[in-house]
Amino acid sequence: MSKTQLFDLDGKIAFVSGASRGIGEAIAKLLAQQGAHVIVSSRKIDGCQHVADAIIADGGKATAIACHIGEMEQIHNAFAQIREQFGRLDILVNNAATNPQFCNVLDTDLSAFQKTVDVNIRGYFFMSIEAGKLMRENGGGSIINVASINGISPGVFQGIYSVTKAAVINMTKVFAKECAPFGIRCNALLPGLTDTKFASALVKNDAILNMALEQIPLKRVAAPSEMAGAVLYLASDASSYTTGVSLNVDGGYLS
Ligand SMILES: NC(=O)c1ccc[n+]([C@@H]2O[C@H](COP(=O)([O-])OP(=O)(O)OC[C@H]3O[C@@H](n4cnc5c(N)ncnc54)[C@H](OP(=O)(O)O)[C@@H]3O)[C@@H](O)[C@H]2O)c1
Repeated sequence: MSKTQLFDLDGKIAFVSGASRGIGEAIAKLLAQQGAHVIVSSRKIDGCQHVADAIIADGGKATAIACHIGEMEQIHNAFAQIREQFGRLDILVNNAATNPQFCNVLDTDLSAFQKTVDVNIRGYFFMSIEAGKLMRENGGGSIINVASINGISPGVFQGIYSVTKAAVINMTKVFAKECAPFGIRCNALLPGLTDTKFASALVKNDAILNMALEQIPLKRVAAPSEMAGAVLYLASDASSYTTGVSLNVDGGYLS
């Protein structure tokens, strides 16, 4: 009996934003382990190169490309490089996001609002458009949007961030419906509390952490690697009939 090939990504080109650390790094490493050539991306090239080097040292294929997804010009430049170097893209993981202000919604300032919308909504939207055009030319692909449980149940003092994550869940359905004719699937991952730099203010504060754990049936925070398996499923042929869904990976929080 032979093992399943459903999760193989041999010959695939995958772009992972926010891959220099945290959840994105874990995703980039797992996709590379499964055979994909991974484009490791974030704002700062050094962190990306570090992750790409680790993938290559492990026998995988990776390239580092810097891209601030809140800057339209940088999105266009990144995709110009992808076209030139690879001529195709099979998998896009929109993972990089921002949450600059932790406050009561009434205290939201305009610059934090604008930054959060520019990165978390406009960034995901136009990255998906650029990727979708390339995928359409090559017969299809898979887009995975890393949203959040906050997109369903807003996090305390995370107002505009939660609003943008709800938009990502809707955006996922829009691309799923309109890009299905081109063989492009689009799905969302909704992580629960995960131990990364992004969540350090919550995870490193005992009082906040204990309050959060009360609401998590599995009674622990996730490791970044625990998000990667779900992304592999959504990126690979194992999910060939799945599009437009939100997959909660949250220790039971939303159940
Ligand atoms: N951790 C959690 O508890 C949790 C829960 C739910 C959802 N999420 C979601 O999971 C995703 C990843 O978060 P994480 O916890 O892994 O965060 P993280 O450890 O802080 O990593 C964030 C990554 O994004 C990059 N980045 C930040 N702003 C960027 C921008 N404007 N353009 C391009 N890259 C950017 C960072 O690198 P540079 O500094 O080099 O740009 C880094 O690689 C986010 O979408 C977040 O909303 C996280």
